[in-house]
Amino acid sequence: MLEHVLGDTIYFEDNVLFLLDQTLLPTLTIYLELQTPDEVVDAIKRLAVRGAMAIGIAGAYGALLGALGARTGNPAGIAIATREAIAHISASRPTARNLFWALERMEEALEQGSGDEPEALVERLHERADEIALDTIETNRALATVGQQLITEGISVLTHCNSGPLAALRYGTALGVLIEAHRLGKHIHVYADETRPLLQGSRLTAWELGTSGVPYTILPDNAAAALMKQGRVDAVMTGADRIASNGDTANKIGTYSIAVLARVHGIPFYIAAPGSTIDMACAAGADMVIEERNAEELRNCGGAQTAPRNAPAFNPAFDITPAEYIAAIVTEKGIIRPPYEKNLRVFGE
Ligand code: MRU
Repeated sequence: MLEHVLGDTIYFEDNVLFLLDQTLLPTLTIYLELQTPDEVVDAIKRLAVRGAMAIGIAGAYGALLGALGARTGNPAGIAIATREAIAHISASRPTARNLFWALERMEEALEQGSGDEPEALVERLHERADEIALDTIETNRALATVGQQLITEGISVLTHCNSGPLAALRYGTALGVLIEAHRLGKHIHVYADETRPLLQGSRLTAWELGTSGVPYTILPDNAAAALMKQGRVDAVMTGADRIASNGDTANKIGTYSIAVLARVHGIPFYIAAPGSTIDMACAAGADMVIEERNAEELRNCGGAQTAPRNAPAFNPAFDITPAEYIAAIVTEKGIIRPPYEKNLRVFGE
């Protein structure tokens, strides 16, 4: 069993999934206590838990909650309930590869336990969900070390959205690399894009940088060009939600603009993401499903109406940065550089 440590933003205890509610940060730190797959689906959809790796972990424990709901029945009933939970959770958000990676591993555990007694089957699923959480922690710890090759003393790095521990568990991806650089004594400065419309940058990244002691500045997304023009950005590093086998990368809406700006200003643009984000079955960004979110997120901000009540809105949650703009991808297996079609094959064919 995975022992939870103080500060864990996701943990499972006494058959309850505890999630730090990210919609309330940075003003309130309140944990949700979830006991059914439906509650997990709701938390993922409304971004109470968000970030590619965090939703993978939450999804895995959500499948376990499905099994637990049927634990007094026979193994076939447990398998049906778990598969229903997996199907329901799979439909919560389409873009991040990690959610499907985690749910496929839960399905695999279910198949491996087809001859198990009820208690053993539930135990097997619990162990698998813990393994997914532990794998996420270990992988990102390795990635944070690998990424140091790109973070030189005195560097200023711009990031977009939130890719810190909140988006995974204990360690982040891109932000994990930057927090580790600071921990190692490097004097870095992080510029955190606000990340409209849901402000993952100013609410979550700034909170994580502040609590980790990393010097930082927030900026509105539309100030990134001016900041680069003033020569204040040495590198850009963001996380990813899905990486195609040709290197095209889905990440929070606005990432593509930052990558284009970085190219224009001669600044290297890096992605940091683990193997569980890489989708070798996806040939290119055009094959990815990009989540479209509710228009209300654009018509309101901080509880106040900020657009005509029925204003038509374009509100994709992610965009695709073409591989040609990406100087390197930091992974737990090392820094991957172009040509990505060839070099990403360390993660499978
Ligand atoms: O909509 P969100 O907040 O889940 O989007 C998250 C991001 O785009 C992150 O940058 C991404 O998940 C990488 S960090 C694991």
